[in-house]
Amino acid sequence: MPASLKLGFVPFTRLNGVLVVFCAESMKFGPATERALAPIANQLRRAAAADRFTGKSGSSLEIIAPTGLSAPRLVVVGAGKQKEVKDRDLIGLGGAAMGKVPGLAGQATIIAEFATGALKARQVASLALGARLRAYTFDRYKTKRKEGEERADKVEVNFACANSDTAEKAWASAAAVADGVVLARDLVNEPANILYPGEFARRASGLRKLGVTVEVLDVAAMKKLGMGALLGVGQGSAHDSRLVVMRWEGGKRGVGPIAFIGKGVYFDTGGISIKPAQGMEDMKGDMAGAACVVGLMHALAARKAKVNVVGAIGLVENMPDGKAQRPGDIVTTMSGQTVEVINTDAEGRLVLADVLHYINKRFKPKLMIDLATLTGAIMVALGQEYTGLFANDDKLAERLAKAGEATGERVWRMPLGPEYDKIIDSKFADMKNTGGRYGGSITAAQFLQRFVNKTPWVHLDIAGTAFASPQSDINKSWGAGWGVRLLDRFVEDYYER
Ligand code: BES
Ligand code: MN
Ligand code: ZN
Repeated sequence: MPASLKLGFVPFTRLNGVLVVFCAESMKFGPATERALAPIANQLRRAAAADRFTGKSGSSLEIIAPTGLSAPRLVVVGAGKQKEVKDRDLIGLGGAAMGKVPGLAGQATIIAEFATGALKARQVASLALGARLRAYTFDRYKTKRKEGEERADKVEVNFACANSDTAEKAWASAAAVADGVVLARDLVNEPANILYPGEFARRASGLRKLGVTVEVLDVAAMKKLGMGALLGVGQGSAHDSRLVVMRWEGGKRGVGPIAFIGKGVYFDTGGISIKPAQGMEDMKGDMAGAACVVGLMHALAARKAKVNVVGAIGLVENMPDGKAQRPGDIVTTMSGQTVEVINTDAEGRLVLADVLHYINKRFKPKLMIDLATLTGAIMVALGQEYTGLFANDDKLAERLAKAGEATGERVWRMPLGPEYDKIIDSKFADMKNTGGRYGGSITAAQFLQRFVNKTPWVHLDIAGTAFASPQSDINKSWGAGWGVRLLDRFVEDYYER
């Protein structure tokens, strides 16, 4: 991304800089686009034929210094069939369009129109959201630029649309979500030497300026509450663990909140059951669930969502050390249930057990959703396209599946059941923290279920989707910021008054 990206909304007649337009299959344009392209209609037809470009989705055509246009470059982005366009299609197209704006261009205009006509304000905002996410880069630790990577310091991208005022208003909400995703991505991308619990809590505390109440519990406070499982994981780290509780009260007074809980293992070495060296650096992303919760709280507060929400993140590091917990140790959770630690690398569930119980007991939420990079096994099961969803409530599972289809952050439901649950019974304690290789994601979810009582609950295993996932038109970042858009949509569609 350039040092600064400014997104704006202008009337169809104000076209400056690089011109980006959308085209439906068999080269169909909307009326405003037709008008803009009239001076080069002939050249465009010949270029399209020469390049076999027909407007298929995923394809594009570029004409440099088009004769008859003041634009230094014209980009035609294929938008496919354009029937039943979903939000996720618009976000993707916005990303694809942004991807065609050259790094050195100071200015570009994207005509927010399909062959079917001008886009609605909300649709324009979705395009802009995609553009913003595409433009994201994490380069704060790069002190040099290679040749060919030169970029303009400032890029201004305008969306030409039917009503720029209403588009601007719709963008205010979408921008809140975009900023939430960007915040989540930044947190996931940060290395663990920078983002230890103190710094993480400090960044979450930044939400206060949006009206979010932020509480930070330290080790002493958690000891008092009896969080033996969470504290056991963090006891080998040089940095003290923290629990951050964020509250946004935009709904009716006295209405019970909905709760989001994130695994925030800011580095997972595996502990005494240490992981192999290969790829261990990726475990700086083991706090992606927590990052999503912070990003979501940002999105909801910044767009003043009419809902009461609690977000909670358990921030710990899993280290081997003289003080670290060992295989065979038995810890007592805040719920009173005891756990035999078979494998210190199954630490996420230990952290979540205490946070889930605490939030459930303290806030009596209407529902709880946790996000965690919990198991490698979910990647074996689902790859990196779908997040694994586990639920004790069918309605919740369905609502999240719908929000997933709308946003493109898709979830796939996995089973729970007593047959799986008994696998984690322990010889010495109430349960053990691993259930062996078979169904590893399921037994992990069964473990969490033992800490939610009857509260409607969903567990999202984001190990495959949170980082190092396949790049897309709207994500070139290692940390994907996965889940912010999904859960923002879920809240908007079902829980705002
Ligand atoms: N954080 C890991 C899971 C993970 C692996 C996330 C790869 C993202 C990418 C988790 O704490 C873990 O180590 N899980 C173990 C559980 C096992 C010891 C029962 C695993 O998946 O191997
Ligand atoms: Mn682990
Ligand atoms: Zn982990």
